[in-house]
Amino acid sequence: VDTAVMDIAVIAGDGIGPEVTAEAVKVLKKVSAAEGLELQLTDYKLGAEHWLATGETLPDSTIEALRGHDAILFGAVGAAPGDTSIPSGLIEREMLLKLRFALDHYVNLRPSFLYDGVPSPLANPGKIDFVVVREGTEGPYVGNGGVLRKGTPQEVATEVSVNTAFGVERLVRDGFRRANERPRKKLTYVHKHNVLVYAGHLWKRTVEAVAAEFPDVSVDYLHVDAAMIFLVTDPARFDVIVTDNLFGDIVTDLAAAVTGGIGLAASGNINMDRTAPSMFEPVHGSAPDIAGQQKADPTAAILSAALLLHHLGHHGAADKIEAAVAADIATRDASSPRPTSAIGDAIAAAL
Ligand code: NAI
Ligand code: MG
Repeated sequence: VDTAVMDIAVIAGDGIGPEVTAEAVKVLKKVSAAEGLELQLTDYKLGAEHWLATGETLPDSTIEALRGHDAILFGAVGAAPGDTSIPSGLIEREMLLKLRFALDHYVNLRPSFLYDGVPSPLANPGKIDFVVVREGTEGPYVGNGGVLRKGTPQEVATEVSVNTAFGVERLVRDGFRRANERPRKKLTYVHKHNVLVYAGHLWKRTVEAVAAEFPDVSVDYLHVDAAMIFLVTDPARFDVIVTDNLFGDIVTDLAAAVTGGIGLAASGNINMDRTAPSMFEPVHGSAPDIAGQQKADPTAAILSAALLLHHLGHHGAADKIEAAVAADIATRDASSPRPTSAIGDAIAAAL
């Protein structure tokens, strides 16, 4: 990665995607100028509206073009849940998941931080500050399954969880590296190895082996059901959570809920080997119910841009965005919500 030039692909997508991405780009431009970084942006049209207009989900030529950039800033894609003009799951499978697999985004990173001034649904949340490192290319999401005798009372459906030694190890090692760089240096791996003994024991043996390389990191294990209890009763106990694709999907939504919700939750789909660009996006979807009304909170998109900067090694610029977001959040008044662009302006001004 050239440290002076940042070459970013922008996929704004559908619904509120373009609205929140515009604010993330606004903040990126401002911080880049201040830090002496040259920012090059290239827009790509993808998503439900693009499919309706062209019949294209994600052509191979687009994947190849995306490979040429340093990173991807992504908004959200998808039509309204009741919209029948698009087959259900088409955009998710043929575009989003395809992109994550093609670019080998094996680390799905989701920081969970309870900012001062943000109400949590928990009465006593404590200081919540952890990251979930979720596996992104394996588990039950690889499409290894099938159906027999469909639509009959004898229907058989399988959905096989795929876990490879290679895939588990690279994810677990990433979790240990992140834990090792954080003050508390604590890693909790979450699985269900008392019942899912084949995949679970591969995870268990892998964690034990990699732990030997990180003597300063303390290791804790929780069954996923117990992890759900602690995420509600004592979320402050967590520092780095490492888990598989399916458990991670569930853990991260609960984590977003206890830290004040969907408008604040950022994520990265990361290829740590840097053989392809990583992609940064708010956790939320295209929110068709509020699209086009400047009602969306762009904070999650802006924090995703900060994760992008961290990934490219521009930690100073990323820290500035995170500090500006924290300062803006501290002044928020839930009784007088601001338009999307006003929140972006305020965060840009606070940089
Ligand atoms: P959603 O996340 O789009 O919306 C859920 C609820 O949260 C809605 O009431 C919405 O108004 C609200 N919301 C979401 N983001 C917000 C923001 N930034 N500020 C304020 N309120 C916000 O989830 P939903 O409705 O289930 O899905 C809508 C579409 O988005 C579907 O097509 C779905 O497949 C797609 N989707 C796409 C994702 C992606 O692009 N990675 C992730 C999740 C859903
Ligand atoms: Mg989810």
